[in-house]
Amino acid sequence: MIWSTEDRAAVLALMLLGTASAQTAPGRQETPIMGYNSYNDVACSPNETMIHDTIQSMSDKGFLGLGYKFFQIDCGWQGYDRLSNGSITYDDTVFPNGIAPLSEFAIGLGFKWSMYTDQGVYSCDTSYDPHRPGSLGYETQDAAMFAAWNTAYVKVDNCFVDPDQNAPKDARTDFPSRYAKMWNALQGVGIPNMLICQWGTPYQNTSTNTLQGPTAWAPAVSTSFRISDDISQGWTSTLRIYNQVIHASLLDLVGPGRFADMDLLEVGNPGMTVDEQKTHFAVWATFKSALMISTSVPRMTAQTAEILGNQDLIAINQDALGLPVKLIQRFSNDYDIFLGPLADGDKVLLIVDHSNTARTLSVQLTDVGISSATARDLWAGENLGSVSSVSQSLPAHGSMVFRLSSIQSAPSTTPEYQDLEAESATLANGASVSSCSGCSGGQKVGNLLSGSTASVTFTGVQASQSTVDVLFDYINCEVQYLGSSVPNVRTASISVNGGAGITVLFPLSGYDWYGDVLPSYKVRLSGFTSGSQNTITVQSASGQGNAPDIDRIRVPL
Ligand SMILES: *[C@@H]1O[C@H](CO)[C@@H](O)[C@H](O)[C@H]1NC(C)=O
Ligand SMILES: *[C@@H]1O[C@H](CO)[C@@H](O)[C@H](O)[C@H]1NC(C)=O
Ligand SMILES: *[C@@H]1O[C@H](CO)[C@@H](O)[C@H](O)[C@H]1NC(C)=O
Repeated sequence: MIWSTEDRAAVLALMLLGTASAQTAPGRQETPIMGYNSYNDVACSPNETMIHDTIQSMSDKGFLGLGYKFFQIDCGWQGYDRLSNGSITYDDTVFPNGIAPLSEFAIGLGFKWSMYTDQGVYSCDTSYDPHRPGSLGYETQDAAMFAAWNTAYVKVDNCFVDPDQNAPKDARTDFPSRYAKMWNALQGVGIPNMLICQWGTPYQNTSTNTLQGPTAWAPAVSTSFRISDDISQGWTSTLRIYNQVIHASLLDLVGPGRFADMDLLEVGNPGMTVDEQKTHFAVWATFKSALMISTSVPRMTAQTAEILGNQDLIAINQDALGLPVKLIQRFSNDYDIFLGPLADGDKVLLIVDHSNTARTLSVQLTDVGISSATARDLWAGENLGSVSSVSQSLPAHGSMVFRLSSIQSAPSTTPEYQDLEAESATLANGASVSSCSGCSGGQKVGNLLSGSTASVTFTGVQASQSTVDVLFDYINCEVQYLGSSVPNVRTASISVNGGAGITVLFPLSGYDWYGDVLPSYKVRLSGFTSGSQNTITVQSASGQGNAPDIDRIRVPL
């Protein structure tokens, strides 16, 4: 898989850039970027003293040594006016000595220097008038200035693409061409690493008239690309990004030198319990997101330093294989299990608890296809020896994460399924069939609208036990941005044999309502009777918005 996606990225690169400029600068970071960024710390108000002190502190507190080597100033550094030759310059009211001495100081300590710009007319800023300049139309001059400051990595934002639109979230056709200009300019001056920060907004492909996420075009013109809108303080924001990224296909093009970026860390900032912050860090590390510390480093507590300093999780994040964990199963409203490969044949097992109260959670390794393995508990930092299950008392929204080695696979079985197409099921009260190129049978069922009793009922479902893990192939392409209350899930009520419905959360499947099917989403259902007379009914959950569109279900025999 990794080779074909690399080929695809290479072909796209040639198409977008032309063969002459497809050469990339040396020094490309092959593992996710780690470092410090000022935005979640001081928003768009950095200054010389705090940046100097933060550089010193990142080094003194050992973060540089742990691998957090990219030091990045975010928005708020630019002067309001360009120089007469068109070059961008610094705001000398907040950086009286300019950027060069800071970058030299940081590089002297062992950091790599990193800057921020915007591929629009103006830059994103929290103070709107006057605006600081963006790089659109000045890519060459700005790349030259960044190179003069020994920059190795540039974050490129997407504000004010049109001068009167601050942070557009509409699907755009110009993403590849606009970002390719900055990418080419940076490669031309030897700056290898670039983050595309367009919040995971879809690209509108005019040849297919479909919407595509950043993985479709961004890997060709960047080394990493934001997959979601900005993180903000609090668990809901973390969940919104998590549910957006959870679908493997959004991460399909992730690999060495091209990573999906889930945004800066909020570890150390208000809004989450310590356990939620640990889960946030474990998810970002194992999903292979960038790990950018973005809190006050000089004032950091020992507890925050301990989370950010977890060397076992850093090693997982920086593993040479560069592949994210994949969702094995979401036990709806309850917990998620992920498994991912590592370069040395080990695997990482992540379990995220959605429960709002503390409880003991146990997982059999056979649930992830493993009969036994030697486990290391990465939060406790303890080797557990050979295990066939893991069990821990977890706080609300806590997580367990293990590195598994000497893995004994469970005997592989080829499960057989009863496949039931939604378009062949019984539809009621407005549920309707529509065509869908990515769906089995070319059709799906939708219009399971909020506040209606529209439903799809599968009949003749075979079962031999009362509880069954049913696989759902579904589509939910409703991307939720910052400030949206729903954390990138659609919700459905699912009932067996007319019994009480259980509420099931369906994470974002992608961007295209007719193509991006999320296959084999496991939902544990109970209430079956032995035989082939069972029914499964799907409809919207009361007060929780529209249900996803359903392609088919697969019931294990
Ligand atoms: C620099 O920023 C820090 C952190 O926000 C702030 O406490 C300090 O007052 C600022 N200094 C100047 C000179 O603006
Ligand atoms: C513009 O002028 C500044 C100040 O003299 C200089 O540092 C910069 O390199 C010049 N930019 C270009 C693109 O020549
Ligand atoms: C747009 O769709 C065409 C046709 O499927 C495809 O070849 C092309 O790669 C797509 N463009 C991007 C940037 O993904």
